[in-house]
Formats: sequence, C-alpha cells, structure tokens
Amino acid sequence: MSIQNSLKQITSTQILKKKNQEKITMITAYDALFAKIFDPYVDMILVGDSLNMSFFGEQDTLSASLDQMIYHTKAVCNGAKRSLIVCDLPFGSTKTPKSALKSAIRVYKETKAQAIKLEGGIEVVEHIKLLVKNGIAVVGHIGLKPQLVRLEGGYKIKAKEGVESKEFQKLLEDALKIEEAGVFCIVLEGVSASVASELTKRVKVPIIGIGSGVDVDGQVLVWSDAFGFFQEFKPKFVREYLKGASLMQEAIQKYVEDVKEGKFPNEEESY
Ligand code: KIV
Repeated sequence: MSIQNSLKQITSTQILKKKNQEKITMITAYDALFAKIFDPYVDMILVGDSLNMSFFGEQDTLSASLDQMIYHTKAVCNGAKRSLIVCDLPFGSTKTPKSALKSAIRVYKETKAQAIKLEGGIEVVEHIKLLVKNGIAVVGHIGLKPQLVRLEGGYKIKAKEGVESKEFQKLLEDALKIEEAGVFCIVLEGVSASVASELTKRVKVPIIGIGSGVDVDGQVLVWSDAFGFFQEFKPKFVREYLKGASLMQEAIQKYVEDVKEGKFPNEEESY
C-alpha cells in the first residue's frame, strides 16, 4: 500500500467521484497522534461519537457532548493534513433542523472539520437540507444507528430478511431521501451483505459500510476495534489488524520490570 504524498486535502466532491471507481477508506480517530499516523493512507477520518465508549469508557455513545466532539475534532485536525475530517454530531445535538444547524455551525467555526455526520433517515431530511443550504457538507448514517441503542434495546442488525423485506424498502427510502436532501456519502451500518449490495447499486452517492459486507463503495472501522485495543467486546464484522492491547500489555510489563530492576534508564538514556 503506497503512502499518499499529496498534501492537498481531499474534498467531498472527490469522495463523491470515487463511486464505481475506487473503494473509499475511512477510519475513526480521536486525537492528533493517531490522526497523524492514519492521515497519509485513508481518504476520510471520522471523529465518531464512539469515542465515548472506546476513549471515555462509557457503555454507549449517548452521553457524548458537542463540546467533547469539538475538542477531539480539533485534536484530529491538528494531526491530519490531507484526509477529509468528519465530526459526528452527538445524541441530542440534532433534535430539530435548527438545533442541528446550530451544532454544525459550532463544529465549522471551532474546528477545521470539512463535514459533519448525522444519524437518521427520512426523519432528518429537513435537517440535512438546512445544513447543506448553509454551506455544511453532510455524511448520512443509516441502518443500525448506535444512538438508538437504548430505544431498541441493543445493537440490532437491519434487513436480515434480505431485499424482499419491508425493512429493505424502508432503508432504500431513507437512503434515497437523504441523498436527495444533499448528503455526499452515507455510512451504512449493520445491514446484511445482500441488502447493502443492492442499496449501493440503487444510490448515486458512495455507501461506506460498517458490518455491511464487501459490496459497498468503501469501509469504515473504529480504530480501537481494528487495532485490537477495545477489549470489552469484538463485533463479528471487525477484523483485528493488530493485537494492540496484548502488545501494550507486554510493553508496560517490560517497562515496569526495567524500572523495578533498576535497568531503566541506562547510561545512554541519562544526562
Ligand atoms: O461513532 C462512530 O465511530 C461511528 C462509526 C461506527 C461509523 O459512527
């Protein structure tokens, strides 16, 4: 995999043009350190409200605040120079089109994010229209919506019964309506692979899958899942590219051992 040398920041128009041309890559990041590592390789970095779980240790994303999202988005923007940065609007910050606009304007004014992400289908069409009308680039998020976890009593895979199901019709309607409202791409989470494939064919904007099979326009993963740091649970769709937690455990044990045994620092590491 080659490093992308261009320092020019990727735009939402470029993301749109990748549909049917090349797969789009997206990963989450919550700080400058990791954003800087991911930035040369991925098309988009998502400052997801998943940070409330993997970074902050909460059970779900619901208590993430807009202040928290802005703080982490600023950090990610400090680390990333070329990938397109997307800030998730957290639960409660998008109740009405007006409040969504107010939240998104704060994100644009206080950070260098190029887009916001908003969970929802038909119910957020007016929100999206208002944001786009006011110059804000929007990523949609349909299928399994983590902000509904308490309402739905868990993380439920959608349209399991396939393309003949009513749930598929609802998903398609959601996708087409938010596309018409102006999103430049859509995160599709927790949907059976056949349904995601059909939906991807029927929608003009890129579909970025998570737990939605391979026949989509791109993939997104939460970085702490992808690199084996999040140990609470491992969803079926996650591939661990690194045994992050075990490597860190080995490293911290070695450090503690060296300090206890007076092996750190050595002469070269001392003034
Ligand atoms: O918050 C997040 O990280 C997300 C991804 C799961 C897409 O929304």
